[in-house]
Amino acid sequence: MTSWGITDPQLPRYRPARASDESAIASLHADSWRRAYRGLLPDAYLDHDVFADRAALWRQRFGQPDQKLVTVTVVAEGDDGIVGFAYSVADDDPEWGTLLDNLHVRFDAQRLGIATRLVTETARWLQEHATSSGLYLWALEGNMRARRFYDVLGGRVTGHGVFSEGGAPMPCLRYSWSRLDDLAGDGSPA
Ligand SMILES: CC(C)(COP(=O)(O)OP(=O)(O)OC[C@H]1O[C@@H](n2cnc3c(N)ncnc32)[C@H](O)[C@@H]1OP(=O)(O)O)[C@@H](O)C(=O)NCCC(=O)NCCS
Repeated sequence: MTSWGITDPQLPRYRPARASDESAIASLHADSWRRAYRGLLPDAYLDHDVFADRAALWRQRFGQPDQKLVTVTVVAEGDDGIVGFAYSVADDDPEWGTLLDNLHVRFDAQRLGIATRLVTETARWLQEHATSSGLYLWALEGNMRARRFYDVLGGRVTGHGVFSEGGAPMPCLRYSWSRLDDLAGDGSPA
């Protein structure tokens, strides 16, 4: 059992984010980058700028959203706050479909199925609100935990790119799924 009591992936509540979640999401995002990208992005960035950087990103997403984009942020909320989130931009790319831009689960809540459920909920939302049926994302080549997760989720590596946030260009991989239906589960309440 974790120190804050989540033992079952059904326990968190899954819902669309609201404006009052801004600082909790930004903090989780920055802390997750610090932990997951240590050794991949420069220490100077992870030790100093990452909190201000993620805070600015979420301030902009909630406060001044790009009206041309259709986006969704799904959060997993435990008894002590937000333990995970997924942010997506619907129909981002004509070939690859929706961009799953951020997916993070709090370090002490991982391996409980929370990310799987966040992707399921996102895919179900997209089935209603997106026109394309594909989903894709970029993962740092060295982020092996995330890559294992995407492999298990049935993602295929369909391209190579360069990730340039944080000041040092890093190789990354495009993972893609051609059918939202494969990610959305069987339609029964999750
Ligand atoms: C990648 C991440 C989102 C996975 O979240 P999670 O809630 O732990 O994932 P799940 O519990 O739904 O995992 C489902 C399955 O994926 C695989 N998996 C997930 N994390 C894994 C890991 N660290 N190592 C090996 N396999 C893993 C397992 O098969 C797991 O099932 P199991 O626990 O029954 O063996 C989480 O590790 C995370 O937030 N990492 C830091 C941020 C990050 O890298 N985000 C992705 C950016 S591209």
